[in-house]
Amino acid sequence: MRILLTGGAGYVGTHTALGLDAAGHDVIILDDLSNSCAAAVSRVESIIGKPVSFYHGDCRDTDLVRSVFVHENPDAVIHLAGLKAVGESVAQPLRYYDVNINATLSLLTVMGEADVHKLIFSSSATVYGEPEALPLTEENRVGVGISNPYGWTKFMIERILMDLADTDPAWQICLLRYFNPVGAHESGLIGEDPQGIPNNLMPFVAQAAAGRRAKVLVFGNDYDTVDGTGERDYIHVMDLGRGHVQAVDHLTPGVSVYNLGTGQPTSVLEVIRAFEQVCGTTIPFEITSRRPGDVAVSYCSPAKAEQELGWIAERTILDACKDSWKWQSMNPDGYPR
Ligand code: WQD
Repeated sequence: MRILLTGGAGYVGTHTALGLDAAGHDVIILDDLSNSCAAAVSRVESIIGKPVSFYHGDCRDTDLVRSVFVHENPDAVIHLAGLKAVGESVAQPLRYYDVNINATLSLLTVMGEADVHKLIFSSSATVYGEPEALPLTEENRVGVGISNPYGWTKFMIERILMDLADTDPAWQICLLRYFNPVGAHESGLIGEDPQGIPNNLMPFVAQAAAGRRAKVLVFGNDYDTVDGTGERDYIHVMDLGRGHVQAVDHLTPGVSVYNLGTGQPTSVLEVIRAFEQVCGTTIPFEITSRRPGDVAVSYCSPAKAEQELGWIAERTILDACKDSWKWQSMNPDGYPR
């Protein structure tokens, strides 16, 4: 199929593009490059050995989205475009609601006009808010205890998509709730390239291992976990990309929801130790106070995706650290900009 990847130049997008190409799909990328760069698309092209249709633009520009549909005639859309920094969303709520919600509304309008009704949406474990139970399943409560506008935008978009699907049985929509994406393609040519100080743990640890950061600040060690530090479900981004491929192949009328995670909780200190194992150096860290808005533990049961999509995460946290370290070592300053 011809698949439009909005936000396809980003961290998850580039790795998903590889998976789609490997499965024989044609990939089209629309990205405003607010959190990526054209070099990332070039790197994807060099890995897959063929050009990728790339449009530089904002999904909120409905006329632009229309022109992409006219020129590329996609069969399905994987909607990844959106702002995703939790802390930034607390400081800039209107920007997050504007970008994430209006980009989606603009895209859905054009999809309806073009009679394209196959959609995969990049949702997030944040919609579960304060976990009702662990491991989290798709039946667990959502929309309670969400602590940031970023998470609320994902929750609201899920609601919008469910209401839309109720209006027309032609819609085939899949919500993929990502847990914590980490790692990089084995080539080291693409990876996570946060601008400025990384918000997320893995890129921060990678930069500390490379000496770009003096030490890792561990946000609290007084949680009820294996070693007191926060536990998360870290999923290798290549497995995550493959999850999108499986979701595209299993689209059905209405709205389906899947957790994409490993089902294994890993603590902050365990991540640091795993990274030390692959980089061969000691990574300095300091225990500090908890980060506001953090939950102690978040990990999922991936059983539904395994049973219905035939998908299961294959890579471990050690694989993710190894691939992150290769990306960091080959690209100490990220993509050339
Ligand atoms: C992981 C753990 C921190 C940084 C968020 C979003 C999620 C997704 C990933 C977009 C926590 C601890 C972190 C650091 C630390 N975003 N930590 N020192 O908050 O679980 O998830 O980012 O797709 O939707 O909610 O990820 O990597 O920020 O934190 O101790 O410098 O590492 O407290 O326990 P999080 P994270």
